Amino acid sequence: MSLERSDTLVLFGATGDLAHKKIFPALYAMVAKGTLTEPVIGVAFDAWDLQQLQARARDGIVKATGKVDEKIFAKLASLLRYVSGDYRGAATFEKLKSVLGTAQHPLHYLAVPPTMFETVIQGLEQSGAAQGARLMVEKPFGHDLQSARWLNRVLHLVFDEQSIFRIDHYLGKEAIQNLLYFRFANSFLEPIWNRNFVESVQITMAEDFGVEGRGRFYDEVGCIRDVIENHLLNILLLLAMEPPVGRSADDLIDEKVQVLRAIRTLTKDDVVRGQFKGYLQEPGVAPNSPVETFAAVRFFVDTWRWQDVPFFIRAGKSMPVHATEVIVRLKRPPLDVFDPIKPDDANHVRFRIDPQVAISIGAQRKAAGDDMIGEQVELTALDDSKDDMPPYERLIGDAMNGNGQLFTRQDASELAWRIVGPVLGDTTPPPLYEPGTWGPADAMAGFGPPNGWINPAK
Ligand code: BG6
Repeated sequence: MSLERSDTLVLFGATGDLAHKKIFPALYAMVAKGTLTEPVIGVAFDAWDLQQLQARARDGIVKATGKVDEKIFAKLASLLRYVSGDYRGAATFEKLKSVLGTAQHPLHYLAVPPTMFETVIQGLEQSGAAQGARLMVEKPFGHDLQSARWLNRVLHLVFDEQSIFRIDHYLGKEAIQNLLYFRFANSFLEPIWNRNFVESVQITMAEDFGVEGRGRFYDEVGCIRDVIENHLLNILLLLAMEPPVGRSADDLIDEKVQVLRAIRTLTKDDVVRGQFKGYLQEPGVAPNSPVETFAAVRFFVDTWRWQDVPFFIRAGKSMPVHATEVIVRLKRPPLDVFDPIKPDDANHVRFRIDPQVAISIGAQRKAAGDDMIGEQVELTALDDSKDDMPPYERLIGDAMNGNGQLFTRQDASELAWRIVGPVLGDTTPPPLYEPGTWGPADAMAGFGPPNGWINPAK
């Protein structure tokens, strides 16, 4: 593995949806900041020419940012190349090799379905384009433990682990980085951040839209595979991990892996699933599909720090709001010195991940008046800076630089599938919920953190 920066970015799936929506806008932002000056070679099946790819990139940038600066776009356009061809054909990779020219350390970014990974990797190897290269792969990384292991074997036939960058774009979000920073750059949290003070942890990812034309993809995946096994479990790891012993990528990932190893494998009793009414009418969804569009899951982390503290994760489509939030709820004070403090008024720490980035401490204070009666307030640090780096920009930059800190390592990818394995692929029809509600109310009755869920505000 080389420590040098990659000298070319090769984007497989360059005409696809992800490239359009996320990758080209990220590349444009990098060019604007001067952090991308290397050639970008798009590869895809479509028999397009370079002008068509440039037009597609421009369209994605306009849709994402509302405008395009012609000077910056011209720079990006001048870096773009296009290779069209079938991933199964040697000719495609020969063309790629010749466009790569003298590049020594390309970064191959596989923004293609995982079913294509093996084919592309073989093509890279046979053409010699894998030599000295790095590989970045998109989610979903496998479908279950067996397929993740198989994919890892396929990747390792050609690339060593240090050269592989498995994306979970949540790890590139500013607010997620802040979770880690806030935990380990402050000393006041540490004494309370354990089973003695924390009553429960809840993570909610609510989306107020359905599957938005992605019915075919979503119906093969469902909520647990789509966001819980990766994005939200990663948030749990950052909340539960011990401080890393050093600053290297492996130091951080080692601590996350320790948590993954300690998380109990789920059973059916740990999960409530739901499906929004109308999902079956979405294009691409199978008739009578049993796939869940909502899930609430209970995890336990069997470590000295977290024994018996429930960690709940809840995620769903067609919820009342679009927001992602973490609530770490503390236990009540041991004695009511004044008016009784209701259990759900106990102190909490709220991490708002989306759409705003904020950290709040929920506390009791005396309400104005004669009596010693309390009211709840939140002390909030709101990050309203406009120049947050979007996840794809951060992650592509990191992978180009060979920094694996924000990527998923092989052992972590397999351990996550081990945990959720027994609750995947449930074929019993999930209870239905009305769009715009917090999931199937009857099934959710009595399921959740000890003193209830806290629904994120808009
Ligand atoms: C994706 C899921 O990984 O993350 C989508 O496939 C989900 O279903 C999306 O909507 C959410 O990402 P973000 O960054 O918009 O919160």
